[in-house]
Amino acid sequence: MRIGTLGNGLMAEALAGQWVKAGHEVMVGGRDRGRAEEVAKRVGGMAGSLPEAASYGEVVLLAVPAEVAVEVARVVPAGRTLIDCSNALDYRDFTLARPAVAEAVSQAVPGVQVVKAFNLAADAVWRNPPAGLGVPICGDDGLEVVAELVRDLGCEPVMAGGLVRAKLLEATAALAIGIWVAGGDVRGMFPPLEAAFGTVPPG
Ligand SMILES: NC(=O)c1ccc[n+]([C@@H]2O[C@H](COP(=O)([O-])OP(=O)(O)OC[C@H]3O[C@@H](n4cnc5c(N)ncnc54)[C@H](OP(=O)(O)O)[C@@H]3O)[C@@H](O)[C@H]2O)c1
Repeated sequence: MRIGTLGNGLMAEALAGQWVKAGHEVMVGGRDRGRAEEVAKRVGGMAGSLPEAASYGEVVLLAVPAEVAVEVARVVPAGRTLIDCSNALDYRDFTLARPAVAEAVSQAVPGVQVVKAFNLAADAVWRNPPAGLGVPICGDDGLEVVAELVRDLGCEPVMAGGLVRAKLLEATAALAIGIWVAGGDVRGMFPPLEAAFGTVPPG
């Protein structure tokens, strides 16, 4: 599959590197050609401008600060699947500086299938993902292709609902990051299915 990245930062490098290893063709897109080329060289892909990467990718990873996500996403042509991994964190208190970024991005790019994914773990995790890590994804369309890209990392997609629920994933990331930064460990917070329901629900 052809994948373009909008951004040449930590998330773009971590995920692009994994997808190149899995056999995909990646164009790292950046506003500065030199920085995009450095990252492309490290991951084994090619480099381009933001519009070039958006046009190149069947799937486009939006990996820029949340405050510019809507503006940057406008270069994505209709028909693409756009993965939004952004977190609009207010680092003063680990709340959200902006609500519903993925929905705002979707409204700005008609005809683009926006999927929220990969926002719940740090770039260091994506560089070396633990086998079987659950990766929640939210979207109305394009979920299967993103689920495949999750599996390419050795992780497990967790279908977390439509794009309307992406804002919950954004809030979940803020909650988790706040707990991690305070020294807590979120892994023990969620019980197994049996404990949550008494028995495993059918299906
Ligand atoms: N890092 C993590 O652990 C992590 C985890 C989950 C989610 N996220 C989210 O993923 C997104 C990317 O994070 P990151 O850590 O990869 O950030 P980063 O390393 O700071 O990279 C940000 C990228 O965005 C580009 N950029 C910034 N402003 C721009 C603008 N106005 N127009 C075009 N490009 C612009 C930067 O370009 P230049 O290189 O030209 O400055 C850079 O390539 C953020 O929304 C973040 O919340 C990050």
